[in-house]
Amino acid sequence: MHSVESAAPTWDPQQYLRHSGHRARPFLDLLARIPRLPAGDRPARIADLGCGPGNVTALLADRWADAHITGFDLSPEMLERADKDWAGTTRGGGWIDFRPADAAHWTPDEPYDLIVSNAALQWVPNHPESFASWIDGLRPGGTFAFQVPGNFVSPSHALLGELCDTPEWRDRLGDQGRRFVHVLDTADYLNRLIGLGCEADVWETTYCQLLQGEDPVLDWVKGTALRPVLTALDDDREAADAFLGQYRALLREAYPPGPHGTVFPFRRIFAVARKPA
Ligand SMILES: C[S@@+](CC[C@H](N)C(=O)[O-])C[C@H]1O[C@@H](n2cnc3c(N)ncnc32)[C@H](O)[C@@H]1O
Repeated sequence: MHSVESAAPTWDPQQYLRHSGHRARPFLDLLARIPRLPAGDRPARIADLGCGPGNVTALLADRWADAHITGFDLSPEMLERADKDWAGTTRGGGWIDFRPADAAHWTPDEPYDLIVSNAALQWVPNHPESFASWIDGLRPGGTFAFQVPGNFVSPSHALLGELCDTPEWRDRLGDQGRRFVHVLDTADYLNRLIGLGCEADVWETTYCQLLQGEDPVLDWVKGTALRPVLTALDDDREAADAFLGQYRALLREAYPPGPHGTVFPFRRIFAVARKPA
């Protein structure tokens, strides 16, 4: 596989939030499986790794009303949006703030009751190597919970990787179309988390998402998997348009519109690990 110099991709909060309903649902499904936190009569302390524009971070305050919640992210664009929309006092008297951090090197800076991550760890190579230190940073009885996409063999992502690897694009894009593929199988996550002394609950769900509008799958990936390609071609509008044209044609064939919209199945992997009390 070709390797091209890989800067962190530039994120576009506005584009990302265009599908916020579908993107938030797995987070709500993850939250539903998180057991009672050890906080007791003091406010819970919560970290959200790869918090993005903060809209799902804010959902944590619906369940833990007086919690102090900190969203960590690598992208200045995402942090700026999160700060503008969600930082400050929450309705239940809690507090949300946002800080820059690279999850690849982040270690808990204080004891946490919950460390959570939604749709972010697939961008972090070797993230399972950090599980031990993250769980170590939990209070006894605390929880580490995450959700990652598991759809990298689906046409949307396979076609992106294959297009980047064609002779026309290989030298410029190399493996930019596969930058996010850093997830394990469900059984691997389960074994690792149990091996670290936790009670673990790991599962997968394929959401049969119905998208509307023209080229909706392209619109979806423009917010996520396409970020490295769009970042690499940022200084060449003509090349970006040419790439998008080719990718659009492949996606139209793979995901033709149906009678009710465009069906875009999306598999996701979930893990909830509770540290013994
Ligand atoms: C698909 S978005 C998910 C955002 C949010 N968690 C949500 O569910 O809507 C992925 C986020 O992970 C962040 N990210 C990627 N690599 C990261 C890293 N190494 N450290 C921290 N954040 C990272 C990106 O900046 C982006 O905001």
